[in-house]
Amino acid sequence: MTLADPPTERLSVRLRTGTRPDHDAAQGSGFLDRLAAGSLPRAAYADLATQHFAIYETLEQAAGAMAGDPVAGRFVFPELTRLPALAADLDYLNAGTTEPLPATEEYRRRLREVAFTQPWGFVAHHYTRYLGDLSGGQYLGPAIAKAYGLDGAGHQFFVFDGVKPPAFRTRYRELLDEASFSPEDETLFLAEVTEAYRLNIAVLAELKERWS
Ligand code: HEM
Repeated sequence: MTLADPPTERLSVRLRTGTRPDHDAAQGSGFLDRLAAGSLPRAAYADLATQHFAIYETLEQAAGAMAGDPVAGRFVFPELTRLPALAADLDYLNAGTTEPLPATEEYRRRLREVAFTQPWGFVAHHYTRYLGDLSGGQYLGPAIAKAYGLDGAGHQFFVFDGVKPPAFRTRYRELLDEASFSPEDETLFLAEVTEAYRLNIAVLAELKERWS
């Protein structure tokens, strides 16, 4: 194969393979596993929910803006919406006045730049959050609930009513493979997923710093 040949692997496969190092850096950032082990105070978990609230508020506004777009709109699923669950979790956790971190504000700035108008930008950020929530999040949620004695309330963020995660992930990958990105936009999409991981890692690093 030469550089001029079109790629033969499906986009979902190239995406997953190409961003595995980014994923592993996010997974290994040292905050989420400490939460899962219960070795941080419960307020640290509430702080994560606060950062998530700020991020999903902007991401889900972008979903509203992109719902009618022929490419991005296919990824807008009302049943994924996380903001009401996060609001309920924060209410239950009595999260107090924790503010969005600088890295969270940077993440929101990037979302405003690319996710409200660019299908590649929206899908990149949508994939990185929601497919992560429907993958590792399905292990993390129960571990955190157990570690902090949460029984039903307080961890609704991890619970997707009406969604079967394995089937949903399969359908989502099909949607990625069917997405009609131009070659230029596909390159931008792949780069933006790496950027989305970087932004998530930065938030986790600041959380780790605040709670270590
Ligand atoms: C303790 C932390 C984490 C654990 C244990 C974890 C675990 C996993 C596992 C086991 C999968 C594969 C599931 C499957 O193939 O069926 C996965 C996929 C994924 N994770 Fe994570 N993860 C973590 C953190 C993160 C973070 C912080 C993000 C981004 C914000 C993320 C984003 C993703 C995405 C987008 C996928 C889907 C990859 C694909 O199939 O295309 N993960 N994760």
